[in-house]
Amino acid sequence: MKSKIVDLIAKNVEGLSADEINDILEIPPKPELGDFAFPCFRLAKTMRKAPQMIASDIKEAIGDVDFLDDIQVQGAYINFFVNKELYLKSMISAAIQDNFGQQTLGEGKTICIDYSSPNVAKNFHVGHLRTTIIGNSLYKIFSKLGYKVVRINHLGDWGTQFGKLIVAYKRWGSEEAVKKDGVAELMKLYVRFHDEAAKDDSLNDEARAWFVKMEQGDEEALSIWQWFKDISLIEYKRTYDLLGMDFDYYMGESFYRDKTDDVVKKLTDAKLLTESEGAKIVDLEAYDMAPCLILKNDGSSIYATRDLAAIFYRKENYNFSKCIYVTGQEQKLHFAQVFKVVELLGNEWAKDQLIHVPYGLVSLEGAKLSTRSGNIIYAEDILLEAISKIKAIIEEKNPNIPDKDATARKIGIGAVLFNDLYNQRIKDVSFSWDKLLNFDGETGPYVQYTYARCASILRKIDDYTPTTDIDYSVLTNPEAMELLKEISRFPKVILDASEKYEPSVVARFSIAVAQAFNKFYNSCHVNVEDKNVRDARVTLVYLTKKTIKDALELLGIECAEQM
Ligand code: ARG
Repeated sequence: MKSKIVDLIAKNVEGLSADEINDILEIPPKPELGDFAFPCFRLAKTMRKAPQMIASDIKEAIGDVDFLDDIQVQGAYINFFVNKELYLKSMISAAIQDNFGQQTLGEGKTICIDYSSPNVAKNFHVGHLRTTIIGNSLYKIFSKLGYKVVRINHLGDWGTQFGKLIVAYKRWGSEEAVKKDGVAELMKLYVRFHDEAAKDDSLNDEARAWFVKMEQGDEEALSIWQWFKDISLIEYKRTYDLLGMDFDYYMGESFYRDKTDDVVKKLTDAKLLTESEGAKIVDLEAYDMAPCLILKNDGSSIYATRDLAAIFYRKENYNFSKCIYVTGQEQKLHFAQVFKVVELLGNEWAKDQLIHVPYGLVSLEGAKLSTRSGNIIYAEDILLEAISKIKAIIEEKNPNIPDKDATARKIGIGAVLFNDLYNQRIKDVSFSWDKLLNFDGETGPYVQYTYARCASILRKIDDYTPTTDIDYSVLTNPEAMELLKEISRFPKVILDASEKYEPSVVARFSIAVAQAFNKFYNSCHVNVEDKNVRDARVTLVYLTKKTIKDALELLGIECAEQM
């Protein structure tokens, strides 16, 4: 409908392209002002007439149109009142398609998303939960736009910390303890190293020596490191399984260890490297940034060096049109430096293809969590606790539904994900069980409850098959109209979310659809005698259910048919 009106205006106005008209055309805040409104202010300058006059002239020029019930001029606006039945039909015909929302914008293009990326031998904490959830949602959003998306887990699995860990393990650790307690034991060893090294600096030399051995390919050093990595990955994968998430590649920092020499060579050839206190850096003063450290004074590479190597590797192997990094905002400077260095090497594409997507902190105030030891919070524990809390609610309220465990998992995990994705990512997320598990309010369980309600209504209708062959005249009440208008926003919502790298746009949309549905449902009985009315209203239930499912899917949330 919108494009029809755009065409109509384009035909009757000179000096504005269809795209421009499309941008200007508004959806009025109140139904009395029509379904679409075209403000004429912009035309006043070129046409040298008062906007009101222009509005009247355009209305005059348009005349009668079959798909419009009315055109009214109010002030500088032309308000279009679409024929309700035709409007409903066009919205329903679009939304009923299986691939509603699917787009072709990204066809033939590849996007790399670098996210999750926990640090080996450390626990998978709530910060990593955020990058995992946001990154996964961006993966789904860009896939929906037709891009090929490569999901990369850039594990923190290389660096001097592993030298420290080897020293600590050899001195104070045991195979049994590591086997028994996994990452928790490795973290204890790491803390112990720092305590002891504060008293005895020679331990630091020892640790450096072990890391040098690792870099030189020493078998013993590498086999201990590999073991630590394997143990850590087993734990991370438990968390990914709970979340139902996966990656195309686990290519951690260690993957680039033989590719950093090439980075150094490129920088040397480009005369970008300078010495500073024995270290090698790229001076970024001209760009108001601290220098980017490339090699430490012992010649070893660092986090940034490996990130540079990763960018060139990915460009070459995936030919990405965008490479997106999802991390906490404390890494802002790091990425700004790395991206600038790539650009200084003569790669103009760095300016718009390398994208840092930062997010805020998680505050756990008020969320009492049972921690395993030493107040360290594991993402896995949060997820398990959410599931068990939902399970308890189900046992209390609806103990007879099938698949209680699977349902508790979907709703519990969904609640955590939704809480994380509902606000703009840069905002801090507060974590309170009461808020997050609430069934009314702007929460995952609320949306999922609405979904289950739709499912239950549809179960009661005998052999419903989706069709556009319904009586549109019985759907013209405002609640039905509002619900359909909301649902119709879906394709645009996905596009907006992708442009801002902002899953919250989709999360908010799912709430808006659920709210519009509940208003509709409170004002219209669905399972009524009159077959025409029933079939038409059931169609809206079906579309609500389908759209909520597709929207939550983009957030990584699975729906349950009963709860
Ligand atoms: N391992 C890092 C951390 O936990 C995140 C890595 C992000 N990705 C990257 N290519 N630097 O903070």
